[in-house]
Amino acid sequence: MHDYQPRKDLLHDHIILVTGAGDGIGKAAALAFARHGATVILLGRSERKLEAVYDEIERQGWSQAAVHPLDLAQATAEDFIRVAAAIDKEFGRLDGLLHNAAELGTLTPLALYNDTLWSRVMQVNVTAPYLLTRACLDLLARSSDASVVFTTADVGRRGRAYWGAYGISCFALEGMMQIWADELEGGTAIRVNSIDPGPVATAMRRNAYPGEDPGTLRRPQEIMNRYVYLMGADSKSVTGRAFCAQGEEH
Ligand SMILES: NC(=O)c1ccc[n+]([C@@H]2O[C@H](COP(=O)([O-])OP(=O)(O)OC[C@H]3O[C@@H](n4cnc5c(N)ncnc54)[C@H](OP(=O)(O)O)[C@@H]3O)[C@@H](O)[C@H]2O)c1
Repeated sequence: MHDYQPRKDLLHDHIILVTGAGDGIGKAAALAFARHGATVILLGRSERKLEAVYDEIERQGWSQAAVHPLDLAQATAEDFIRVAAAIDKEFGRLDGLLHNAAELGTLTPLALYNDTLWSRVMQVNVTAPYLLTRACLDLLARSSDASVVFTTADVGRRGRAYWGAYGISCFALEGMMQIWADELEGGTAIRVNSIDPGPVATAMRRNAYPGEDPGTLRRPQEIMNRYVYLMGADSKSVTGRAFCAQGEEH
């Protein structure tokens, strides 16, 4: 699977929304999807970072992207309905949705976890992807092969001390993925999977492991193989599965 080679135009004519598209893995995914022919919709909280990704896509001559700045920590159900309405107006459907934006919170014993931070991490990492998926269902249903991917982590597949709200949010995402997959299988062409990127040199990884040499880790653009696979026709009808971008499935 890791030697999978996607066709260069695998995602031609695909409309794909990526959250947290301004930096790290989300930025690399948006660029990888665009490189394979997709039109990407870039969602994130920093308009400046999203514009930089937009400009890079334009510079490469790939399909023109769209930009939707939104702070997921503040976003309400109405905000997600507005995002979906804007996509509907511009594109009329959605073929892919990569939930990638997340906040780390702090690495703290559960008994000492800060309540306000708990709520924020749950809002960004769990409630926002739920509300965005729900708001986009009609758009996804208009695709002949729609792929929804939730980003999780190894600490969301096996509990580990001190990972607190972040670890629990990843468990919640795995559960949400399975429930959506089960509910949507059969009656729709929407498939739903999760992916654990593994250790990747990004800002979040630096915050979690400040003493680590990032040079020992893969860079975001080096782990895109399965992300592209999950968005394209080669994974058609694959649903309800937990993937790893590096190494074998758990
Ligand atoms: N890196 C790893 O080793 C690793 C391992 C396992 C899982 N993951 C998962 O991979 C995904 C990507 O993480 P990353 O490592 O690429 O981290 P990152 O570089 O920190 O990127 C996270 C992205 O999410 C955005 N974001 C955070 N809070 C947001 C909010 N309130 N509203 C909108 N956007 C927000 C960030 O925006 P700003 O740029 O404005 O901060 C950034 O673009 C996450 O789901 C993470 O849990 C990463």
